[in-house]
Amino acid sequence: MTDSESLAALSHRFPKNFLWGVASSAFQIEGAAATGGKGASIWDDFCRIPGAIADGSDGQIACDHYHRLDADLDLIAGLGVKAYRFSISWPRVQAMGSGPSLKSGIDFYNRLVDGLLLRGIEPYATLYHWDLPAELQRKHQGWADRSTAYRFAEYAALIAHALGDRVRSFATHNEPWVTATLGHELGIFAPGVKNRGIAMQVAHHCLLSHGLAAQAMRSARRSVDVGIVLNLSPVYAASASLADHRVAAREDGLLVRWYMDALLRGAYPRDVLEYLGADAPQISAGDEQLIAQSLDFLGVNYYHPIICSVARPFSHAREGVPVTDMGWEVAPASFTELLVRLDRDYDLPPLYITENGAAYRDVLVEGGVEDPERRAYIESHVSAVADAIGQGVDVRGYFLWSLLDNFEWASGYTKRFGIYYVDYATQARTLKRSGVWFKNLAAAFHRERTGAALAAELRP
Ligand code: FCB
Repeated sequence: MTDSESLAALSHRFPKNFLWGVASSAFQIEGAAATGGKGASIWDDFCRIPGAIADGSDGQIACDHYHRLDADLDLIAGLGVKAYRFSISWPRVQAMGSGPSLKSGIDFYNRLVDGLLLRGIEPYATLYHWDLPAELQRKHQGWADRSTAYRFAEYAALIAHALGDRVRSFATHNEPWVTATLGHELGIFAPGVKNRGIAMQVAHHCLLSHGLAAQAMRSARRSVDVGIVLNLSPVYAASASLADHRVAAREDGLLVRWYMDALLRGAYPRDVLEYLGADAPQISAGDEQLIAQSLDFLGVNYYHPIICSVARPFSHAREGVPVTDMGWEVAPASFTELLVRLDRDYDLPPLYITENGAAYRDVLVEGGVEDPERRAYIESHVSAVADAIGQGVDVRGYFLWSLLDNFEWASGYTKRFGIYYVDYATQARTLKRSGVWFKNLAAAFHRERTGAALAAELRP
């Protein structure tokens, strides 16, 4: 098969309204950290802690996307994709996390949304991709305090008012497990707390805030679609031992069932609550019903499976399995397995793959980046999604992580996930070879679809 035949064959495995897109998040690309009265976020504070970020960097400038908006929107348009997932920086809109909105912040997101629509690209907004207004952490304990959930709902309503006439799809949270567990149990992400009891309280408050925000947004604007984005993975035991299997089952409870059961069954898994014991969160009467608001969609972020054992309860890669520059296993079949399992175990709303992609050590050589490993990763994972669709899972779209190389949280700028290479010294962007492949896939898909539509029209 030629390249274009294999792209056409792959694109044929997706339903006709399938959406191809790219994704990013505010803190990772925007920069302009204090522009227009923007408040600091907990990541600005976290970056100042010595040793917190691998290269000692921060998000002050990042990809300078705030100042390069139009050119960056042209880059998205240049890929021929029809959707862009971005996040809104809460402290850019409410510097202190409450009160009236900042005009400069709303103006920026208006320009972003209008610029997308002008280019025929559908905006997919996420309200919270980890950049909590620092004020809420400094003075009110952030997500550990229930009041933050109510403030979040006010912010959500404000955004629905401001953008909901043009943005249809809003995700409340990105990966609440990361906020809770990496941010408050392991302390490797902002705000850097290390306490399991607090982490589980945070997990509960994030979910509660999702329910409150869904209600607030829908009463502000009936037309909006509201969903949430979770990081989900199959969890495997590192060995055949019963003890390792127990650890894996427990981790699956904390990573997958905790969130999925709360959102889609209206109750936390009882076995996980029991296991947590004194670390279980305080849950007020009615909270579980509040969390389980109907979802218009569920966003799934998948990168790698989780492997655990008694000795190493958190994820690690198995010997001999290929890994990305993050040390994450490359396991596309696990992606299919995850999607099929979710479909089997839950009454799901439509799914979107809101993130999938890989970091590799890219180098710019003579104006180009050859990244065959990333291309292979993307191709095999897109194909894994097609396999799941073939088995009846209702997946409506795929957003590649990420549009640009960017600030990769605790790894700083040392890990590159973009399909556009960013030279941070000059801010020049270069489409990597994998990006060319993705662009060709989108083109093949749209060509096939328009071709088919045309043929149907011409049929006597
Ligand atoms: C996800 C995050 C995203 C990015 C990728 C690599 O967990 O949502 O911001 O860091 O991982």
